[in-house]
Order: sequence, then structure tokens, then C-alpha cells
Amino acid sequence: MKRGKLDTMVSRNRIRLLQFLMGLVFFYLLFMSFEIPLVYRTGYGSVPDDGTFGFTSDTLPRPFLLESEEEMADKDAPRRPSDDTFLVSHGSPHRTPERRMREFKKVSGLVFDESTFDRNASKGEFSELHKAVKHAWVVGKKLWGDLESGKIVLQPKTKTENQSETCPHSITLSGSEFEAQSRILELPCGLTLWSHITVVGTPRWAHLEDDPKISILREGDDSVMVSQFMMELQGLKTVDGEDPPRILHFNPRLKGDWSGKPVIEQNTCYRMQWGTALRCEGWKARADEETVDGQVKCEKWIRDDDSHSEESKVIWWLNRLIGRTKKVAIDWPYPFAEGRLFVLTVSAGLEGYHINVDGRHVTSFPYRTGFVLEDATGLSVNGDIDVHSIFAASLPATHPSFAPQKHIEMLTQWKAPSLPKKNVELFIGVLSAGNHFAERMAVRKSWMQHRLIRSSIVVARFFVAMHGRKEVNIELKKEAEYFGDIVIVPFMDNYDLVVLKTIAICEYGVRTVAANYIMKCDDDTFVRVDAVIDEAHKVQSDGGSLYVGNMNFHHKPLRHGKWAVTYEEWPEEDYPTYANGPGYILSSDIAEYIVSEFEKHRLRLFKMEDVSMGMWVEQFNRTKPVLYHHSLRFCQFGCIEDYLTSHYQSPRQMVCLWEKLMHQRRPQCCNMR
Ligand SMILES: *[C@@H]1O[C@H](CO)[C@@H](O)[C@H](O)[C@H]1NC(C)=O
Ligand SMILES: *[C@@H]1O[C@H](CO)[C@@H](O)[C@H](O)[C@H]1NC(C)=O
Ligand SMILES: *[C@@H]1O[C@H](CO)[C@@H](O)[C@H](O)[C@H]1NC(C)=O
Repeated sequence: MKRGKLDTMVSRNRIRLLQFLMGLVFFYLLFMSFEIPLVYRTGYGSVPDDGTFGFTSDTLPRPFLLESEEEMADKDAPRRPSDDTFLVSHGSPHRTPERRMREFKKVSGLVFDESTFDRNASKGEFSELHKAVKHAWVVGKKLWGDLESGKIVLQPKTKTENQSETCPHSITLSGSEFEAQSRILELPCGLTLWSHITVVGTPRWAHLEDDPKISILREGDDSVMVSQFMMELQGLKTVDGEDPPRILHFNPRLKGDWSGKPVIEQNTCYRMQWGTALRCEGWKARADEETVDGQVKCEKWIRDDDSHSEESKVIWWLNRLIGRTKKVAIDWPYPFAEGRLFVLTVSAGLEGYHINVDGRHVTSFPYRTGFVLEDATGLSVNGDIDVHSIFAASLPATHPSFAPQKHIEMLTQWKAPSLPKKNVELFIGVLSAGNHFAERMAVRKSWMQHRLIRSSIVVARFFVAMHGRKEVNIELKKEAEYFGDIVIVPFMDNYDLVVLKTIAICEYGVRTVAANYIMKCDDDTFVRVDAVIDEAHKVQSDGGSLYVGNMNFHHKPLRHGKWAVTYEEWPEEDYPTYANGPGYILSSDIAEYIVSEFEKHRLRLFKMEDVSMGMWVEQFNRTKPVLYHHSLRFCQFGCIEDYLTSHYQSPRQMVCLWEKLMHQRRPQCCNMR
């Protein structure tokens, strides 16, 4: 009895205490909700935290615009972390660029003058590129204007609640249904681990090929008999305005290959660039070669004779029956034959795609950089083949959501620090495309976390142009507002125009950031920030002009093939000495020169941005000597031990490289995909 009474008293007191605390919390919240906006509005150091800066229609003058630059520099000087003082002593003594732009812009300040592109167009020289620039600028500027004014809005999402409807576990198509869908099987939610697709088809008989792309390979004969088909896993939803990426291109050539033998070629086409083809020519992959989930990349087949196969099968079977040999190697013929039905299954393993034909493993293709399984949203089969039916099963049950923001993690820890008021040692401009959400996120989580970047001695920004798909642009704008590390270059994105982004990087690096060095890289480049600065300091002892990277000497333009450079585009026989695009550094005087030449309309533009840079530096070198420094440690392809930058790194590899740097303190490569 007594205890019970005591208990109720205690609990009554507790309730009162709770009520009191809740009251306190309420008043605190009330107070904060009035106070915080005030704090933010007055603090001029809070540029990126105030995510709306640069995008809103808020036209109130910013308080910091009124500050003079010297005052800012004075105020800031004591804040420089002591352990980075080496930068002060080594920092280029020559001259630091003057910061001309008085605000830290999130849109590139590169000035386009449309009329100049018209004026010289009649001369014919480089006019195609200039025309393209102008078009991209006009379209892109309008797009960005609409986006900023909020004219572009996303339609409310069409119902996606019914998961079973949007993400089927399996899909079955008959041959005629497949034909009716223009030979594309749509996979609404992509693939997942161990999803598999089975195609039943019959290769058609060889026909005379008149496609010059194929027949050119066989000079002498004026006709070639060809039978081949292409099965491709494509990323229908990942990119718009470009060809869809071919995540797996599987191309059996029964007849007509230049080798004269039946082969299977496999490849990927990422951002409209073909990779290196994996050719299976009937030799089993060597034992020391990389395997895929324990499977060889290419199985052996009988290279010449089909008639042997029946015989050898029988012999093998007899040997097994008699029990004479435990292990008998049996060779199968090439898995496809004209007019003969086959059943092909492609499945998604841990390390790559596996292809089985008629129940036997034929090839395995390791996953390549840049794709995740759910990106494979379509399967197309084209060429000399009749498809009888297609089955896809073990497809992802839950919708991974193709919304690009799935890659974006809105956490304050990944936000860029605000731009410092002092000059910056190194500015890193990262070329990126609107839909490369995953790539940017991986950069943010890896080398952008370097202490030199967190302390604003080095500043890194992504340079992104307008994308063809409005959903992407809307997401991009949100991303830019949140992270504060994206500079919009307001023209329509186009492969031939990346050169403009390079100029925009120079402009931003010189005018907005006022950096001593300017570096350009790609969003699949991993940068060892401190090592790169050390390299520049080591080379530049006298404060002269500098161009550092993986140099190409006396390279010649490719004059044939898909990526040919015409004589109109590049009349000279040689390219100038130029650093490979995935990572190079300039001293700021060169960058300044480039921007000013561009604004005077004297800058020659070429579609390859790295060659263009070589050309501009060569021009600069005529008036003031430039120190060219070549280092293979700026890797063009992949990664080497002790790299300064490594390239073609997938988002996973980026994070892996960063972890190795952090935990093992060693620049080691991550060779998984
Ligand atoms: C979802 O779609 C399936 C197939 O169309 C249907 O059978 C099911 O009733 C739907 N569920 C809901 C909740 O609408
Ligand atoms: C355009 O023409 C003028 C006059 O001929 C020339 O000075 C200028 O360099 C040209 N600009 C470009 C970009 O070709
Ligand atoms: C740079 O200029 C110097 C002196 O004019 C010249 O010797 C050198 O070859 C030039 N370098 C390049 C790469 O053009």
C-alpha cells in the first residue's frame, strides 16, 4: 500500500518535470527559429551553408560585397593553419592573380559574345566548332534562365507505389512481341546480382555485306559474306541526349570477321567511347589471366572443323563409360551456327557477366568502370538473327529508383567549405556532366576530403553544363545549391565543347579563386592533392610559368575512323606538346592569358581540350618561357603505384583509393571494378 502511494507521488513529480522540460524545449525552438535566419543573413562567411546563394531571386546586396578585399585578407591571415605554413614560404613568389570578381559565383563568369562567333564564321576556319559553341550557348543560356526563374518544374511523379507493377520479377516476350518493340526488351528496374536473361534465336545465313565499315577490312574481295549479331545490355535511362551507353556489347561474328574465323567480340561503350574489345577467338584464356567469378574470359572451341564435334563427343562419352580416363578435355565447336537454334543465357555475377550457350559457359566479361547493375535497363538484339523468345528473370524486386539523386547523400559533412577570402594555392576544376551524380559524390567522399581542401588552401569545383533532360538539370541545381561545389557553365553539354569548360576553369581559377596554380581533371580522376602541390613546387623553383602533366610529344591527329580529325579541324601534321586531359597543372599566368585571349576572340578552339591547352601554352611560350614538366605519375589510363593522379576510377575505386591513402598512408591502386 505504502509503496504504491510513494510510486504515484514519484510519477506525478516526474510528469511535472517532463512538462517543465517540454516547455523549455518549446521556448528554445521558438527562439532559434527567429534567431537562425538572422545569423545566417548577416554572416558573410556563410556562402555555401546558405545553399540558396547565387540561385535565388533574392536580390538584396550581400554584406560581404561591401567589404574591401584588403580588409578581408587582413582579417583572415591569422586563421591559416600552422601546419600548412610551407605553402606560404614555397608559394609562387612571382605574382598572385588579382581577384576581379567580387562575388563567389556559382555560374561561370566566362563571357560569351555571340556576335564574335558570327563575325569570323565566313572565313571558314574552325567555323563548325564556333557554330556549335554558339548554338550550345544560346540553348544553354535559355535553359539555365528558365531553370533559375523556376519556369521548369517537374511533373508530379506518376504513381510508383505499386512496386509489383513497376518492377516485375520476370519478363517473357515472344519473338513477334520483341520485334514489335523494335528489338528492345525493357528492364524497368535494371538488373541485380544473378539476374539472368535467356535469348532463344537462330542466326541467319550469311549475306553479302555492302557496309563499307566491314568490307573495307577485306581489300581485294569486293564482297564479303557476313553473318553476325549484336546483343547489348544498354542503359536506356541513364543518359539522354547521347547514345545510350552499351554496358555489355556481345557480338558473335559467325562469318565476316577480318581474321577469317568465327569470333566473339565483347566491349563496352561508356560516355560514347568504346573500350578495348575483348575478343574470344577460340583459344582458352591463359591460366595466369584474370578470371571472372572463377570463370575464364574465353572458352576454347574447335577452330576449324565442325564435323569433328560429333565424333569427339562420342569418343569422350565412350572414354567415360570405360572409365579409362578420369579427366578428358572435350572441345566444342563455335557455339553459333547459321540456321541452328541456340539458347543463350547472360547472367550478372559478382565480378562480371557470364554467357552460357546451350548450357555451356562460353565467355565472361568483367564489369567495367562507370556502371552499376541497375543501369542496365534494356536488352537489344540486332543483326543477322531471328529471335524466337526472350525470358528475363530474377530481376530486382524493389525499385532502386532511377531518380539520379539516389546517389546523392545530403549530409553536411560533404558540403564544400566556403571560399576563403585569401588567395588560394591550387584550384582544381573537375570536368563533370549533369548526370554524373555518382561520380561527383565519390569525389566528394574521397579526395575532396583532403585536409588542404577542407582548410581552403586548395579549392575544388565541378564544372557542369546543361543536360538535355530537364529532370537532370533540376536535380543538378538542387545538388549545386546544397553542396556549393558546382560551377554551372550555362551552355548545352556536348562532347566537342568540353574545351569551353576548360576555359571556364581557367576563368574561375584566376578571377574568382585567385589561385597560384590551376589544375584540370575529370570526375573519374583521383587526385593526391598534397603530392600534386609538392610536384609543382619541386619543379617551379624560380617562380616562372609552368605546365605540368603527362606530356605527349609529336603526337599526330588520327585521320581515319570514327574519331578522325579532319584537315579543316586540324590542318597541321602534328599536335603541339600537350599534357593528357585527365590531370594537368598550369601556373596562373598562363590561365590568365587564356581567358584574356578568349575574351579578345583570339583564342583558337579545337574540340580536344587537352590539345587545345597544348596549343595555347605553346602560344604563351612564344612571349614568356614556360617550363614543361612531364611525369608519368599523372596516369592517363588507370592507376600505377605512387601515382599523382589516377584515371578511369569508378566511384567504388575512388573511395577505395582514398581509404588506402588514409589508413595505409600509401598511394596504392585499387584494381577491382
Ligand atoms: C499492383 O499491380 C498489380 C498488377 O497490375 C495488381 O494486381 C495489384 O492489385 C496492384 N496493387 C495495388 C496496391 O494497386
Ligand atoms: C576574327 O577576325 C578578326 C579580323 O580578321 C581577327 O583579328 C580575329 O583574331 C578573328 N578571331 C577569331 C576568333 O578567329
Ligand atoms: C618554348 O619556348 C622556348 C624558347 O622560345 C623553346 O626553345 C621551346 O622549344 C618552347 N617549347 C615548346 C614546347 O614549344
